[in-house]
Amino acid sequence: MLKSINDVHTYRIIRKIADGGMGSVYEAIQDGVNGFQKIVALKTLLPSLSNHTKFIDMFVQEAKLVANLVHENIVQIYQLGKTEEGYYFSMEYVHGLSLHEFIRFHNIVARQKIPVNLSIFICSRIARGLAYAHSRNNNYGRPLGIVHRDVCPNNIMITTEGLPKLTDFGIAVASSDMMGEDQLMGKLTYMSPQQANRENVDFKADIFSLGAVLFEMLSGVRIRVGDSQEDFVGFAKDGHVSWDDLPEDLDPHILTILKKSMQYNPDDRYETTKDMAKELEYFIYKDGYGPTIQTLEEYLRKQFPYLYHVTKNSLDKTSEFNFRASVDDGTATIILDEE
Ligand SMILES: Nc1ncnc2c1ncn2[C@@H]1O[C@H](COP(=O)(O)OP(=O)(O)O)[C@@H](O)[C@H]1O
Ligand SMILES: [Mg+2]
Repeated sequence: MLKSINDVHTYRIIRKIADGGMGSVYEAIQDGVNGFQKIVALKTLLPSLSNHTKFIDMFVQEAKLVANLVHENIVQIYQLGKTEEGYYFSMEYVHGLSLHEFIRFHNIVARQKIPVNLSIFICSRIARGLAYAHSRNNNYGRPLGIVHRDVCPNNIMITTEGLPKLTDFGIAVASSDMMGEDQLMGKLTYMSPQQANRENVDFKADIFSLGAVLFEMLSGVRIRVGDSQEDFVGFAKDGHVSWDDLPEDLDPHILTILKKSMQYNPDDRYETTKDMAKELEYFIYKDGYGPTIQTLEEYLRKQFPYLYHVTKNSLDKTSEFNFRASVDDGTATIILDEE
């Protein structure tokens, strides 16, 4: 019987997508034999982080925990690797945009509200992805206790097919523990009071954060805005929510969902993430038919036509530079030669 296959991976970079807080994200081609090609996204971790033993320990531990999360509303991780430059991982490439860009477009460019049903639809899908992650068990049937800890618009992506996906599982856990409050500022916006107070948190922290994301989609503003940094930190620790910023004509059922998900005490929030997902779905589907990925895709086509322009097939593009990572004896080599 076949015992194992020892192989190497080669990735060719198509383009750098962005420099994020933890490192850079690239669109790349993973080559196989006979012209097999698969588009992936690569995230390289900042060398400063790769040298930070505590961060790496936590990051690797968490990456292993989420390695087998396979769900349509979660960006799938394929491989965690190490090169001379540091750690990287490959994941499902998402053609689309982040929820952060989606919200920004409505608030600043189009100056229009996001349709309520689409907001609920997007959050209901993310709730399903979270509910799946939150309920994973280990081989002995014990809960893995997976918590995302950084549910925010930057970490939610929407594909051009109208499929919302949660990303960056694991990074948050490792990073939140080594960063000071200053660096946590952006995240504090969506954070549950327990997490802001640096208490141990469970999946209820993600329920709070998803509530905060939905609040922002419906109101156009964040759940809290501080005048000073002290205000801001204080608001996060108190679990403050500026309820008055919600639209006056908001359906009372949605207000109930928001209130339930953002209770100060985790025991008062939804008992399970499935319950939250169900409530959101009930709201959009109670009359028989509601938004689907097709509705969202049609909306994206109208608002973001550039996402659908057929450009030269990215597989044909010549790489700006080559990135080769070959896994051998557990270590990989990376070759970055800029043209
Ligand atoms: N799997 C992916 N496929 C395509 N684009 C991605 C993927 N993951 C992240 N991105 C994009 O890369 C950018 C940087 O991501 P990231 O490093 O997570 O930083 P942040 O979450 O702070 O925006 C984001 O704007 C996101 O849209
Ligand atoms: Mg991210």
